[in-house]
Amino acid sequence: MPVHLVPHPLVHDALTILRDLATPPELFRRMAVRISLLLAAEATRDLPASEVTVTSPLGLAGGRRITADVVVVPVLRAGLGMLDAVLELIPSARVGHIGLQRDELTAVASKYYSKLPADLRDCFVLMIDPMLATGGSAVAALDMLRDAGARDVRMICIVAAPEGIELVERHHPDVHIYTPVVDERLNDHKFIVPGLGDFGDRLYGTH
Ligand code: PRP
Ligand code: URA
Repeated sequence: MPVHLVPHPLVHDALTILRDLATPPELFRRMAVRISLLLAAEATRDLPASEVTVTSPLGLAGGRRITADVVVVPVLRAGLGMLDAVLELIPSARVGHIGLQRDELTAVASKYYSKLPADLRDCFVLMIDPMLATGGSAVAALDMLRDAGARDVRMICIVAAPEGIELVERHHPDVHIYTPVVDERLNDHKFIVPGLGDFGDRLYGTH
């Protein structure tokens, strides 16, 4: 499975602020948008485009416009913190939603919501979920996308754990993962170490 580690210094600058316990929710949200813009740009490097000609004030200019049918799928709730960034880059994208919640004790994810565009067969699908920990949520979400016909799926996350990468690799070997880092490990509560804590809680100030 291709894992794309994104080394851009601006990505890592934002990640460091996200990791910092002292970062308040308003700054956390801004950094989530900033890092998501940069990661989404990396994940869409090969987005199909067609050649066009436009008239500039000084004459004809060749160019390219995006032609892909892009569907972006945030995994609720933390994935919502990345959505505006992707839509800023690709305003024509359609949006599917998948709601998954990890049980606080077992860390097993259960589905509480799903609304996807009808046929994802020919779509360029970007699944966004900032944390890839055990991989249970990612695999459940990717299963749903496959059941909806998706064939070209990329996942963008902000911090990944080795365990999550391995689980996704086992169940969805063709899915490309874009992440700045793969952290050391999971702790006994299945949180990523060093990670950044509970992304959803930090994003929305709910801890
Ligand atoms: C977090 C995160 C992922 C999941 C990762 O969501 O946003 O979806 O945990 O963990 P996993 O790889 O072990 O499944 P959470 O269930 O805490 O819900 P939230 O987004 O509503 O906070
Ligand atoms: N979900 C989070 O938000 N953080 C983790 O470290 C693991 C799962």
